[in-house]
Amino acid sequence: MNRYSRRGFGAIASFTILALLGSAGTLVAQDGEDMRSTLEGVYTEEQAERGEQLMWNICAECHFEEDYQGPFMEDWKGASVWGLFESIWSTMPEDNPGGLPATDYADAIAYMFKLNGLPAGDEELGSEQDVLDKITIDWEP
Ligand code: HEC
Repeated sequence: MNRYSRRGFGAIASFTILALLGSAGTLVAQDGEDMRSTLEGVYTEEQAERGEQLMWNICAECHFEEDYQGPFMEDWKGASVWGLFESIWSTMPEDNPGGLPATDYADAIAYMFKLNGLPAGDEELGSEQDVLDKITIDWEP
């Protein structure tokens, strides 16, 4: 490829990227109205305390708190809270998957958010798909 055609390709590539960014931007604007992020306080302190109790009673049999921190949150960045909820609900506790009340899983996730320094707010984290679908996991180490 000579210099000139390489430049031509570059121009086409950046045009395509801009076009893609443009349509993604529109999608965000349309869907973004009632989207929230975990940086906005999506659980309460009391809920995280319940989650902590639950995790000491049930999950600590097999897990350390470090299991839910740092790299764990990083892996979930950009996903919806429903994705995280469903993954835990469908597999945990390993000896009784899905065996806890749905609100217990929400409490456990509230505690995971707290462990990762995400802020608490005024409203508890729900356990319904249509609510959790609208909260995106964001996290700053
Ligand atoms: C009987 C043992 C056991 C219990 C009790 C248990 N887990 Fe697990 N959990 C596991 C095993 C084994 C894995 C898989 C670990 C792996 O693949 O690295 C796992 C994986 C996980 C993961 C994924 C970790 C990752 O790195 O992606 C999460 C989150 C989790 N468990 C949460 C919970 C929660 C919350 C509870 C309590 C409600 C719980 N677990 C109770 C055994 C258990």
